[in-house]
Amino acid sequence: MEKIVFPQDFLWGASTASYQIEGAAFEDGKGESIWDRFAHTPGRISDGTNGDIGCDHYHLYKEDIAIMKEIGLKAYRFSIAWPRIFPGGTGRPNAAGIDFYKRLLSELRENGIKTTVTLYHWDLPQKLQDKGGWANRQIADDFEAYTRYLFEQLDGLVDWWITLNEPFCSSFLGYWMGMHAPGIQDFSMALSASHHLLLAHGKAVKAFREMGTKGEIGITLNMDYYYPLDDCNDDRRAAEISHAAFNAWFADPIFKGKYPETAWELYRGKVVLPEIGASDFSVISEKLDFLGLNHYFSDSNTMCPGEWPLGVKRDMIGENRTDMGWGINPDGLYDLLMRLKKDYGDIPIYITENGCATRDIVNVRGEVEDCNRLDYLTRYISAVHRAMKDGVNLKGYYQWSLLDNFEWAYGFSKRFGMVYVDYKTRKRIIKKSGHWYGKVIAENGF
Ligand code: FCB
Repeated sequence: MEKIVFPQDFLWGASTASYQIEGAAFEDGKGESIWDRFAHTPGRISDGTNGDIGCDHYHLYKEDIAIMKEIGLKAYRFSIAWPRIFPGGTGRPNAAGIDFYKRLLSELRENGIKTTVTLYHWDLPQKLQDKGGWANRQIADDFEAYTRYLFEQLDGLVDWWITLNEPFCSSFLGYWMGMHAPGIQDFSMALSASHHLLLAHGKAVKAFREMGTKGEIGITLNMDYYYPLDDCNDDRRAAEISHAAFNAWFADPIFKGKYPETAWELYRGKVVLPEIGASDFSVISEKLDFLGLNHYFSDSNTMCPGEWPLGVKRDMIGENRTDMGWGINPDGLYDLLMRLKKDYGDIPIYITENGCATRDIVNVRGEVEDCNRLDYLTRYISAVHRAMKDGVNLKGYYQWSLLDNFEWAYGFSKRFGMVYVDYKTRKRIIKKSGHWYGKVIAENGF
């Protein structure tokens, strides 16, 4: 195999999210989030667990940073729990909450690790959900106020800011399919939630620019790559519909200042479309410094009239599956990156999440030999490298995840970490893939 070498300044990192690792769900004045509520609702989480304790990162963050340093991570991406900062969503900030993130950021700095902060990774204050959550337009202003406070408090401690993680999941999984908090099933409401998420994003970026905050700002979108099932016109149309409804629905307003016509026309007359204010698109398309991309799998697409609302049937592709049942297809990441370059030009891109769940066990020597993950990463990182060689402006790669953690509706049943977590003792063990990743970082390739 040829040696793959990345540019000197390529950023190697790992990602996590507050609700998935922090624990301390009701400590130091933190308010209830929609994920606290959802996880405590019987039947919502497949293994009946919740994030009350998580990986106990809230207390063990120094130990976790020492592990990051041992691996050799250049950057760490984590998210801030909004209800830790504003327990009721708005109003008076909670000093202990902001203090935790200041300590975390300072410790990272002292250890030479660059910092990437996601402002919203799904744990909305429950108090705001009680007022309609993302389906209520008022939330865009509430989000702006929350982010303004963080820009002021954390200015100078953060290298990269990410407004939202995967607005697709917050709106479509939360309000349409109902498998994520707040567990609503109403497609029109999901579309209006998506619009308010985009508006909230734009307002935060505008505030960031106005305040002259240090660092760079972007958004993280999750995108699958959509292939036609067969090489025929119908299936090509099916793939375009999925791409428009799920990928371009979020990227076009940001980079082109409008919703994709393919999706908008398809919905017209069928569902209630979002109400769009006169200046919304100019706010949403405020210029970004980078795009964060989360990618996990690809789908085949075929027209299927019974499938509401898109009329498309999708299936995951890939010759093998991860423990999530997600197909492995690194070419999909390459094809997606080439498509983004074609549609949106040369905006710097960071892969802010990519990785896989495997069935990891601790062997008799106390080690975790996650060879499947190592194979997965080798193949996906090779695809990233190939896209860079072919002209995509890629700046970095963050693996999902640093730690095994609470995988949303799957609870603790899925392990995504490069570090194994024993949930009873809270002990951490760097897996074989974690040691391998450290070597990749040290050699800038493999
Ligand atoms: C992404 C989420 C992340 C994690 C991975 C597996 O959609 O952003 O929190 O759950 O999937």
